[in-house]
Amino acid sequence: MNKFYITTPIYYASGEPHIGHAFAVIFADVIARYKRQKGFDVFFLTGTDEHGSKIAEKAKAAGKNPQEYVDEISKLYADLWKSLQIQNSDFIRTTSEKHKAGVEKFIEKLWQAGDIYQGEYEGLYCAGCENFILEKDLANGLCPDHLLKPELVKEKNYFFNLKKYIPFIKEKIGNNELKIIPESRKNEILNILSANLPDFSVTREKVQWGIPFPYEKEQIIYVWADALTNYLSGLDFPDGEKFKKYWPADAHIIGADINKFHSIYWPALLMSAGIALPRKIFVHGLFTVNGQKMSKTLGNVIDPKVLIEKFGPDATRYLLLSQFPAFEHGDINENGFMEKYNADLANGVGNLFGRVFAMARRFEIKESGLDNEVVKIINETKEKYEKWMENFQLFEALKEVFVLVKFLDKYINEKQPWKSPENLPQILNSLLSGVEEIIVLLSPFMPQKMEAANDFLNRLKSGKIQPDEKLGLFPRV
Ligand code: ME8
Ligand code: MG
Repeated sequence: MNKFYITTPIYYASGEPHIGHAFAVIFADVIARYKRQKGFDVFFLTGTDEHGSKIAEKAKAAGKNPQEYVDEISKLYADLWKSLQIQNSDFIRTTSEKHKAGVEKFIEKLWQAGDIYQGEYEGLYCAGCENFILEKDLANGLCPDHLLKPELVKEKNYFFNLKKYIPFIKEKIGNNELKIIPESRKNEILNILSANLPDFSVTREKVQWGIPFPYEKEQIIYVWADALTNYLSGLDFPDGEKFKKYWPADAHIIGADINKFHSIYWPALLMSAGIALPRKIFVHGLFTVNGQKMSKTLGNVIDPKVLIEKFGPDATRYLLLSQFPAFEHGDINENGFMEKYNADLANGVGNLFGRVFAMARRFEIKESGLDNEVVKIINETKEKYEKWMENFQLFEALKEVFVLVKFLDKYINEKQPWKSPENLPQILNSLLSGVEEIIVLLSPFMPQKMEAANDFLNRLKSGKIQPDEKLGLFPRV
């Protein structure tokens, strides 16, 4: 059986999850479910990133010790993922013993390769990025991504010899051995690689909350070196069966904000440790809400729980993935969700299924051949859908399904099957076959609703539906 290993970023346990975090995990979950449908042995990893200065400060501000604090936040993520029907194989936490052991082993390999050396760092550090930042990259003295004022630090650090690996990374990215999707994100990385990139720290001196550096315990392993290693420790690196079976990752799903860490630092670290590189890094765009970055201060953060309450978990998954192509940055507003829900789900799929099922209840389902016209569009839809899905273009794949939905709706209007008893069996069977296909194609996106529809349809076909039984798929809101 073919294996497929897919990951999401591990999210900072520094606050409540918002729709951006939910987006990446739903995105990965849809791909994981699609691959399972295709018979792959899938391992799907997500989790929380729980060390570093930012989290230590948040815990302090909340009057808690850091472990207590991250336990609470991590649970918010895990619970939300459950209510969004995320089928992750494991949930990795960077404060777990298993992760810490994996990180220590990993650092040991870098050390043995002779790629870690001691130095001094003096410069600015953005706690939002958990990274050093250059003066020239600031906007009005602030980090442009986090709108935070960086802190001036001067400390002893251990550095990783990134320079040594740059030519190799360039080559592997250039020839797509390490495939960065989309092309624009690959080019962004190739540009950064052609500039003079400084080595990066793998330890921090003045940070308390983290994994001690095995070669000098006063130093803490830099939070990004710690976090990236989750993709290995989640498979019980270095000796675990899962590691042998599933590594290398087939796809890391990440946001544009953390491309550099995944497409430069991570492959360099892996090469140094003598570990195979991931196959694909898929970089999705970030959304703004009403034209602005989501932020607590602006008060425009959308809480996924609110969407789940209003639309249900299946529709929430659909609504987040159907806003715009994942390659792009895009803007979201809550009215848009409502319109999309009513247009695509209530009046679209829900209405079509309702019409076809009503017909199937009213008239007997007799055996017959299928209408070629319908067979053709079903096959075309499937083909296009699969092509998009293989490229992780979920927005585009969904669009194809809705072409079929609209076609079938129009087909009913045009054929008016109830008026032509002689054609009725063929029309009805063709419609049922279309609906069955839609159920399969939408299952990775809306698993519970499609399962309910499938169950209803099966019982309908075998005459087991009760007269007063209704399939309330997507009620209008
Ligand atoms: O960066 N729109 O964690 P994080 C879409 N711990 N997606 C968004 C988003 C938005 N506005 N905001 C966040 C970290 N995301 C590190 C990662 S991995 C080894 C360590 C999504 O909590 C997007 O996928 O800041 C982004 O990359 C991720 O959440 C960052 O989550
Ligand atoms: Mg972030």
